[in-house]
Amino acid sequence: MLVTSRSYVEYEAMFDLTELPDSVLDCCAGGASFTAEAVERGVDAIAVDPAYELPAAELVDTVRRSLPATAGIVDEHAGSFVWNWYGSPERKDELRIEAADRFLQDVSIAPERYVPGSLPKLPFEDGRFDLVLCSHLLFTWADKYDRDWHLASLRELVRVSRSEVRIFPLVQQGAGDPVDYLPDLLAELAGVTSEIRKVPYEFQAGADEMLVLSH
Ligand SMILES: C[S@@+](CC[C@H](N)C(=O)[O-])C[C@H]1O[C@@H](n2cnc3c(N)ncnc32)[C@H](O)[C@@H]1O
Repeated sequence: MLVTSRSYVEYEAMFDLTELPDSVLDCCAGGASFTAEAVERGVDAIAVDPAYELPAAELVDTVRRSLPATAGIVDEHAGSFVWNWYGSPERKDELRIEAADRFLQDVSIAPERYVPGSLPKLPFEDGRFDLVLCSHLLFTWADKYDRDWHLASLRELVRVSRSEVRIFPLVQQGAGDPVDYLPDLLAELAGVTSEIRKVPYEFQAGADEMLVLSH
């Protein structure tokens, strides 16, 4: 799986963020610069990802390799992507390179913000974060993780959040196929209100919705 580097502005659009609450978890943060940039805005932000177990040099290499690999996926499925949000492939690459640089700088100066961990079992107490964000893991990699994993992971994201979880996108990587069992999973989340909400971001054609879980 790719350890990609999305930027704060991409997160802002994917999750339709206006202002951030006091504490936010980015799960699975990969090489994203969201945490570094949220901390700069005064937020208690933490990133979690299994990739943070890698030795430093290997993490740098893994993050750097994700950019050409992502471009390869986009080229392979060119008809499934739209460029109205990014404007051009060059602008997308620019944002991702800046984000990777920012992430690698922050992880070296504040490693305590980057916690190794994997869904469906996160190393945080119940309700630790006001808001939990999840970009490009659940549903995106439904070819790798099955329905049971998704249900357990949704419950775990809810457990570590005090009030809200946002997940984007709701389709699989590459061609953007839907995940058929998504509605059934939501019905199985007792005590949680789920809403599928439109966002001002689209890259995979038609994938302009996030899932909001509130409790
Ligand atoms: C496509 S990247 C997304 C990174 C970042 N959120 C972004 O939007 O650029 C997917 C990330 O999920 C992480 N990952 C894979 N399996 C995971 C799991 N079981 N729990 C949490 N993170 C996982 C990978 O290490 C990788 O960094």
